[in-house]
Amino acid sequence: MRRPWLPLAVATATALLGGQLAFAGSATAGSDPVAAKPSPAYPADSLRALAARVGLRIGTAVNADELGTNEKYTQITAEQFSSVTAENAMKWAEVEAVRGTYTWEKADQLVAFAEKNRQLVRGHTLLWHNQLPAWLSTDGYTTTLSNDEVKAALKEHIFAQMRHFKGDIWQWDVVNEAFDDNGQPRQTIWYKAWGGTGYIADAFRWAHQADPRALLFYNDYNLEFTGPKSNAVYELVKSLKAQRVPIHGVGFQGHLSTQYGYPDLQSNLERFAALGQKVALTEVDVRTLTKPDAVNVPVDALAPYAQESYWSRSLKACLAVRACISFTPWGFGDSYSWVPGWFSDPQAGAALIYDEQLNPKGQYHVLQQDLALAAGAPHRG
Ligand code: G3I
Repeated sequence: MRRPWLPLAVATATALLGGQLAFAGSATAGSDPVAAKPSPAYPADSLRALAARVGLRIGTAVNADELGTNEKYTQITAEQFSSVTAENAMKWAEVEAVRGTYTWEKADQLVAFAEKNRQLVRGHTLLWHNQLPAWLSTDGYTTTLSNDEVKAALKEHIFAQMRHFKGDIWQWDVVNEAFDDNGQPRQTIWYKAWGGTGYIADAFRWAHQADPRALLFYNDYNLEFTGPKSNAVYELVKSLKAQRVPIHGVGFQGHLSTQYGYPDLQSNLERFAALGQKVALTEVDVRTLTKPDAVNVPVDALAPYAQESYWSRSLKACLAVRACISFTPWGFGDSYSWVPGWFSDPQAGAALIYDEQLNPKGQYHVLQQDLALAAGAPHRG
């Protein structure tokens, strides 16, 4: 359902901007990106070009196996997005599968690509209970290491990872998913080693020591809804601030589904912003049922419109909150999405903004339209 005036709005925005846009250069980590270095031109109606007009970074998770090998994937990554996140290449299991031996190739490739394309990098993630190396833990909840060894390993890892990328990373997800959906701290190896959530403050302090210019984020899912989890994280941020722990922002992953109602996202972004935090949408996707659940859930013919609406409302919530500095879909092409592999019963998918052939979907056009309007609605002269 293309909106007839969209070409007009984008055309107007493009005309205003003279077609192609040469963008000011990449920024140093932590500061906003208007450095006066000429750079490659990007289509003026690209998501990144339109979003730049309001100083918002539009990002994407990047699949390291496609970048540089899949031409269309690589071109879209460069042209449409002004921020990138390694989908897996910076995770502990990927960079230190053998203790003390680091594998940076895929992550370095992404950082170099970002530099070349004037993109900022979100580092993901320093401390999590998933994708840990087997020498540390195979499930995130048990380990053969002593408490002191777990603490030493975490400190070593944070310093090694952040020093390797020092100055290259704009935002780091320092701690990822420390609370369950009831708002209770997960009883992970970190919680057990510290005998509580004290590991979170230590991780942020070490991260700040390692790269004082990076913006340090707590990142989690289901924070979009007001409830036990977002309330627990709200209290966590207040307590960290009271302890003068260097936390700078909160990442709302934004893994949404049309099976559930739309969350009160904007009010949650606003309350964390009111704590002096930057906020960001860090892993947005909007899944829907793609195969009928034989028992009770037919495929909803209107689902694509609901998906477009959820994408649009999420972007508008971010646009409406000045402290929301980046909006990152968790990838852009449906054939690279984590969703179908994880949500298989009932089967869900079609969660991203480009289809399986990397053609833009209605979801892409809705975001482009919202950004074109945010960049300046057509003048009614
Ligand atoms: O790298 C290994 C490869 O060596 C092996 O041959 C292959 C086959 O098993 O697995 C590869 O690892 C996979 C990894 O992605 C890299 O492709 C893991 O099995 C697979 O589980 C992992 O999935 C990632 C998932 O996090 C793991 O929890 C998804 O791609 C990634 O999109 C997803 O992202 C998370 C965020 O980090 C945090 N928030 C939720 C989000 C979705 O789960």
